[in-house]
Parts: sequence; C-alpha cells; structure tokens
Amino acid sequence: MPAKIIDGKAVAESVRAALQTRVAALAARGIRPGLAAILAGADPASRLYVRNKVRACGEAGLHSEVHEFPEPACENALRERIAKLNGDRRIHGILVQLPLPGKLDASRVLAAIAPAKDADGFHAESLGALVQGRPGFVPGTPAGVMALIEHAGVPIAGRHAVIVGRSTIAGKPAALLLLQRDATVTICHSKTPDLAAVTRQADILVAAAGRAKLITAGMVKPGACVIDVGINRGADGKLAGDVDFDSVQDVAGWITPVPGGVGPMTVAMLLVNTVKAAEQTLG
Ligand code: GUN
Repeated sequence: MPAKIIDGKAVAESVRAALQTRVAALAARGIRPGLAAILAGADPASRLYVRNKVRACGEAGLHSEVHEFPEPACENALRERIAKLNGDRRIHGILVQLPLPGKLDASRVLAAIAPAKDADGFHAESLGALVQGRPGFVPGTPAGVMALIEHAGVPIAGRHAVIVGRSTIAGKPAALLLLQRDATVTICHSKTPDLAAVTRQADILVAAAGRAKLITAGMVKPGACVIDVGINRGADGKLAGDVDFDSVQDVAGWITPVPGGVGPMTVAMLLVNTVKAAEQTLG
C-alpha cells in the first residue's frame, strides 16, 4: 500500500487559522504583532524565502518589515540595526535570513537579537533552553516537523527516530524535540559510514541533509514515517527534496512531499513564534 501523504500545506493552513483568534485578541488590546527580517546579500533563494515570510505575515494580519544590507555587508551594521529593532515597540520578532554572505559570522549577528524577540529560535539562549527542556522559541523547521508527525498520529515515544543531517537550523533541534518526546534518537551525517544500515532502522526518518534524493526506497523500513526537510533546486530548476519521493512512497507508511510538506510549516511556525513574542509583552 502506498504511503499516506502528509499534506503540509493543509496542516500549515490550520495552524494559521488557529492563530487568528490570538491575533484578534492582541488587536483588541491594541497590539499588532510585528516581524523584522534582516536580509543581507543577494542570494535569490534567501530573497524568495523572505518574500514568502512577508506575504505570510500580511495574510495573518501581522506587521512586517525587511531590512536589506547589500554586499559587502558589515557585521557591525547588522548588529546596530538589530539593536535598534530590539528597542522598537512595533517589532516583536526579529529574524536574520541565513546563510549570511561572505565572512559574516552568523552566531555573532544572531547574538545581537534580544532573546525575547528571537522568532527563529537560533539565539544561543533559545537553543540552550531547548537543550535544557526549558520553554523558549523553537526553530520553525523542526517545530514544523514535529507538528506534521503529530498531525499524522505517528507514535513517537519508544520509537527509533533517525535524523540525517546535523544543522543547527533543522537536524540538531529536530533530534532534541524527538528526544523530548521519548524517541530513541540517532543523528547521521556525511561521515556516517553505512547510512542505509542506520536509516533502515528508523520508525521515523527525518531527511535534512540538503542532498537531492539522498534517501531511496532501499534505505527505508517498511511502514516508516518519512519527513523530508530538503529543498534542493536541480539543474532543471525543479525543486527536489532529500527523499526520492516516487520510490519511497511505495515503502513508507507516511511521507511528506516537496514542495507542500515541511516548507509551509516553517513559515507557519515563524508566525506562531512572532505572535507568542507579542503575547509575552503583555506579561
Ligand atoms: N535559512 C534556511 N532556513 C532558515 C530559517 O528557517 N530561518 C532563517 N532565518 N534562515 C533560514
């Protein structure tokens, strides 16, 4: 039987619909949640992601603004702008679109964000809270991964979750969130010797390596839940995930498509974090 397809667009839609009551409650108290995006350099993918985030803010009734820094962008200029935004009462969430161009040090730039406005959850304080199991802002992509697994009704506790990829944006926080839910977690990466031998043990397989069609049918345990975080643009200009969807859907129990899987969830969770940041200003 082919896998059940987890429709990220529909789940993101329901997350965004549920957010409307919270946005309305804030509006009744004179607050419109606001997001500032820092966009440095001219990477077309980054520009597209920021445009999508701005559009999503508009649709959800949030204020948003983009702060552009053409190359060569200077770290101090970014940090100074962030410091201003930290003190701006109209702005509740600040994100720095990654990757940053040139030699800019992302962790130093991210450190300038006030933790209370860390809508992307990449600040060391937010990531530290995640490691320690304290409440805080969770990065949108792994939060979206968890929401999709939960929506599909896939059991997590006691199951083996295998994450392929160890980025701070996706792989590492996804592993921590699955661990928090009592999964047994393995993180694989480019130096893992026999990747297929590990992925074949996964009840939940999260592919976040950034390599098109890395995960093929022979690497998947029959009935597994396969979540594809990859967004790779092929030479033909088409989007491809990290999972070879056509072959894996015949083996997996659940699968997310690309596009229309994790991508829309990342944006929805960013909105959730921005609204949460606005709510927290009420004390
Ligand atoms: N680059 C890739 N994914 C993300 C994300 O979720 N947020 C930001 N700011 N940059 C990214």
